[in-house]
Amino acid sequence: MKLLKHLFDNNRRWVERIEQENPGFFERLSRGQSPQYLWIGCSDSRIPANEVVGLLPGELFVHRNVANLVIHTDMNLLSVLQYAVDVLQVKHIIVCGHYGCGGVIGAMKNESLGLIDNWLRFIKDIYQHNAELLEALPEDRRADRLCELNVIQQVANICHTTVVQDAWRRDQELAVHGWIYDIRDGLLRDLDVCISDRDQLPHIYQLGVRID
Ligand code: CO
Repeated sequence: MKLLKHLFDNNRRWVERIEQENPGFFERLSRGQSPQYLWIGCSDSRIPANEVVGLLPGELFVHRNVANLVIHTDMNLLSVLQYAVDVLQVKHIIVCGHYGCGGVIGAMKNESLGLIDNWLRFIKDIYQHNAELLEALPEDRRADRLCELNVIQQVANICHTTVVQDAWRRDQELAVHGWIYDIRDGLLRDLDVCISDRDQLPHIYQLGVRID
């Protein structure tokens, strides 16, 4: 007996639909991928990366983790990033957070959830750095604002990596964007924090600056 049969049935229907609309689609895709975008998003089941931006398989390289964090020692994320930038040569990196993020909301509380507390600690740091601003907001706005601030911090973290700075140093076209998805209406908003050049970073984070 096949377990989860309904998912295999769904899969067959999905393949049929795509092949109907686009004959030979999978055969062509099997020869390689050349996505233009790297998506770094939350693992939350409500934000399927390809679907919310209307892209087909092959068009979006994806990394997802709880609360879309970019941690400098995360070999998983760094490997995805390096492969996407150096080998696939994506032109855009999109860090996409979302309102109502369980990771962000969890980080605002004092509950202990186990191992994940260590991961969520990075969001507590962002809260603490912005505590004054956040606590001046009405309570029902704080989580939304922290979701936005989290995206902005992760955009900065991506830009501080050697991978992104090396790409800019060799004049590779690469822009890093910060977006937020609203689970209440399905719409994406641009947080307008696009960075496409090392000079846009605070000086202390700039790597390989020539001293004349
Ligand atoms: Co989330």
